[in-house]
Amino acid sequence: MIATLVPGVDRVLFTEEQIESRIRELAGEISRRYQGRTVKLIGVLKGSIFFLTVLARHIQVPVKVDFLGISSFSNKSGSPGVVRIAKDLDESIEGEDVLLVEDIVDTGFTLRYLLQTLAGRGPNSLAVCTFLDRTPRRIVQVPVDYRGFEIPDRFVVGFGLDYNQLYRNLGYVAVLKPEKAPSA
Ligand code: PRP
Repeated sequence: MIATLVPGVDRVLFTEEQIESRIRELAGEISRRYQGRTVKLIGVLKGSIFFLTVLARHIQVPVKVDFLGISSFSNKSGSPGVVRIAKDLDESIEGEDVLLVEDIVDTGFTLRYLLQTLAGRGPNSLAVCTFLDRTPRRIVQVPVDYRGFEIPDRFVVGFGLDYNQLYRNLGYVAVLKPEKAPSA
């Protein structure tokens, strides 16, 4: 199906069909890994909810879901990467098999912070699944167990990813027109 482009969108990077197919593959791998167990998906608000929803539907083992919200900012000296939890999980993860679900990993600061924080809460296991992985922007090395797609250093929107809170609801991932895209 040809996607109808919304204003501001330049070109489609991944179509709905490509995304659906890739998520099914990921869900298959995840189902095999957690065979005989229950996996707790932890979504990082807000972007990941679109990916998490489809992923969860295709996973073939019992699934629990919880969410946390983070805020990130620069510290007084201007260094990026200061992350804190703005909305914590509703339930304990002690003894659970946790799969942290992200929409995108960029610098890695958010993921590093979340992994350190969650590891301290005594899960049975802790793994990471991200929809997009923008490795050219990585500053700190973080473990990524499952990734949907690697992407170049371009500003993308859709399937959870926003620009000024817009475009999250697109079924595809797209590059914004240059005049719309913020400078990286
Ligand atoms: C995105 C994404 C990650 C973070 C990754 O969140 O969901 O949490 O950025 O960036 P990093 O690797 O450089 O730390 P964002 O702040 O855009 O929030 P949103 O999901 O609500 O759009």
